[in-house]
Amino acid sequence: MHEFVRLGFADIDQILSIEEAVYSHPWSRGNFSDSLMNGHDAFGIRNEVQEIIAYFLVMPVVDELHLLNFAVRSENQKQGYASAMLKFMHAYAKEHGYASILLEVRRSNYRAIEVYLGDGFQEIGRRKGYYPAEGDAREDAIVMRRIC
Ligand SMILES: CC(C)(COP(=O)(O)OP(=O)(O)OC[C@H]1O[C@@H](n2cnc3c(N)ncnc32)[C@H](O)[C@@H]1OP(=O)(O)O)[C@@H](O)C(=O)NCCC(=O)NCCS
Repeated sequence: MHEFVRLGFADIDQILSIEEAVYSHPWSRGNFSDSLMNGHDAFGIRNEVQEIIAYFLVMPVVDELHLLNFAVRSENQKQGYASAMLKFMHAYAKEHGYASILLEVRRSNYRAIEVYLGDGFQEIGRRKGYYPAEGDAREDAIVMRRIC
């Protein structure tokens, strides 16, 4: 059983080092601080030496939680942390009365799509050119939702 902790401004340095290693287009320090300043919730898991190994941020939109960022440190991937985060997120959503969780994922991010499908998310649409890609190119997002 993993213990989840609320993350805040003091954790941005650690989060950024993971973020920059796992994403082709990582969030910047400003993206994280704006998100926290806007009251979005951030949670994570630390290891025994207090290093963050996984984190996510969610934004409440009326009765839905919008998943903004979701990542596991490279050396801790494929150890069940994403599944644990989704389980925690559902419990959190239920406890706070949210009806569903919504997310966008790059069309090419097969690994994340597998994780979300395995957790019961379903594709509900696409957003064309939603993400920046190589050079001037753009990549579509798959929009997924899971009812809580
Ligand atoms: C996507 C990501 C969060 C998955 O994290 P993870 O901790 O490795 O995932 P888990 O170990 O919890 O795997 C959960 C399930 O996903 C599936 N899965 C995991 N890795 C997989 C892979 N390489 N290929 C296919 N399926 C995979 C498995 O079905 C697994 O279920 P299992 O427990 O039965 O094996 C992680 O790879 C990551 O941080 N990627 C970079 C950031 C990112 O893309 N985030 C998503 C943004 S939308």
